[in-house]
Amino acid sequence: MTDRIVDLRSDTITKPVVAMRMAMASAEVGDDVYGEDPTVLALEDRIADLLGHESGLFTPSGSMANQLGVRLHVGPGQEVIADELANVLRAEMGAAAVFSGISSRSWRAPRGLLDPADPLRLMQPDAGPYQVSTKAIVVENTHNFGGGTVQPLEAIRTLRAATQPLGIAMHLDGARLWNAHVATGIELAQYGQQFDTVSVCLSKGLGAPVGSVLVGSREHIAEARVWRKRYGGGMRQAGILAAGGLWALDHHIERLADDHGRARTFSEAVASRFPGVIDPAHVETNIVIADVGQAGWAAADFVSVAEKRGLRIYAVNAHAVRLVWHLDVDDADTSYASDLVTAMFAETAQGS
Ligand SMILES: Cc1ncc(COP(=O)(O)O)c(C=O)c1O
Repeated sequence: MTDRIVDLRSDTITKPVVAMRMAMASAEVGDDVYGEDPTVLALEDRIADLLGHESGLFTPSGSMANQLGVRLHVGPGQEVIADELANVLRAEMGAAAVFSGISSRSWRAPRGLLDPADPLRLMQPDAGPYQVSTKAIVVENTHNFGGGTVQPLEAIRTLRAATQPLGIAMHLDGARLWNAHVATGIELAQYGQQFDTVSVCLSKGLGAPVGSVLVGSREHIAEARVWRKRYGGGMRQAGILAAGGLWALDHHIERLADDHGRARTFSEAVASRFPGVIDPAHVETNIVIADVGQAGWAAADFVSVAEKRGLRIYAVNAHAVRLVWHLDVDDADTSYASDLVTAMFAETAQGS
């Protein structure tokens, strides 16, 4: 056992910094269900603007923002399609089916990388009375379970050009769109404008404690506001939370490059000894997927031994683990993690 704990399970685990807490404590607030919280309104306007959309809606979580987006485009008995690793299908607890009667299908996407040919092959825009009609496609950027993969803007544009004339909506799960923006230098609005609706999270790399924003047209967001209330997501003096988001937009976007650099440093250090486990060329942002099966480990065993030695990570399947860099991890933590992981791989290499 060790006293040191480096926690790379997720970028959601960060705690708000003191200056963010001060901004939250002094936020001007009002009843947001009455549309009277000036800080929430400021956050919604600012993010809508950044993403090139008319309106925004503050939600308690990324899951709610995604589910509202999907709900706007797809009705009961119709379908949404997304890649098989997409958060919206894999980690939102079947919400589209449970709350909205929506059916879903998916395509295979190594590393979550979008190839427009896949959804174009899968979709059925108007399937008549015989099969389920596709009404929306969800794209995730960056891709979480894919390993922080950045979606190429050109691929998104190709998909948009093919689906828009058919009336198939596109929703962007942009929980980590900030990371894509920092990694590529592409403006947030250039991504945002390719979609009917976009969700972004403030509680991941940006380090705010709570909150996401859904953006879209004025009509879409007015409708989403009704559904948010229906889902129990109408919050009152939510400006206290929104203030954390506004503070994060001012202070925590550009620094994501540090997280990306550390994830790369880690992956290069490990790959220099064990190249089959991590490919540094696939580490584009703050997430690393390590195929520990290649080094003779079951993912669950690897997670549990690493935890005993002071490193917390997450098993994404039976043979791979995810490591996520964030605000509360520094260079020393990164070296600690790469030394520990390399030593664990070396033990199985010696044992085999
Ligand atoms: C890509 C992606 N989208 C959406 C979500 C959902 O966000 P929340 O946990 O706030 O519901 C997550 C959460 O990790 C995510 O990684």
